[in-house]
Amino acid sequence: MKATVLYESVTGNTRDAGNLIAAELRASGVDAKACAIDRADLQWLSDSDLVVVGTWVDGLFFFGQRPGRPWKVAKLPVIDGKKTAVYCTYATDPGKVLDKLQAIVERRGGDVVGGAAIKRSDLVGGASEFVDRLMGAGDVQTLVSR
Ligand SMILES: Cc1cc2nc3c(=O)[nH]c(=O)nc-3n(C[C@H](O)[C@H](O)[C@H](O)COP(=O)(O)O)c2cc1C
Repeated sequence: MKATVLYESVTGNTRDAGNLIAAELRASGVDAKACAIDRADLQWLSDSDLVVVGTWVDGLFFFGQRPGRPWKVAKLPVIDGKKTAVYCTYATDPGKVLDKLQAIVERRGGDVVGGAAIKRSDLVGGASEFVDRLMGAGDVQTLVSR
């Protein structure tokens, strides 16, 4: 099973979380690669059974939260029908960013099977918990056992 983790990051948290998620996926036997969303390895992406898309939370900290730089996510290559998971990194309150990110990813054809809001103060724990949950999800288990 192959996976691509694509992230949009300004100060590095979402990138670091993406790299941690890819490492956790590899530890679970998935051939995973992480890269910036506007530098996707298109061949790897096309061969991927699972796509993970992450961004940061942009807002006024307790309201008005939206995915950071949504236009970059909206330019994601078409991923028609691929199993997809979304994540965001945040400081205090992610609001409804995961739902908003899911809607953008679905417009690119992704079939969203899970998501996680990862607090920037615990990227390691958040990434590990997210991948554990993802690998336990029925949709992903079916891919692994194929
Ligand atoms: C302009 C700006 C607005 C932000 N707004 C929020 C917010 O509304 N809620 C929140 O929890 N974190 C907010 N944050 C914190 C970031 O989402 C958090 O630091 C994130 O991990 C940054 O990801 P990055 O390092 O990949 O760029 C904001 C950060 C910036 C720079």
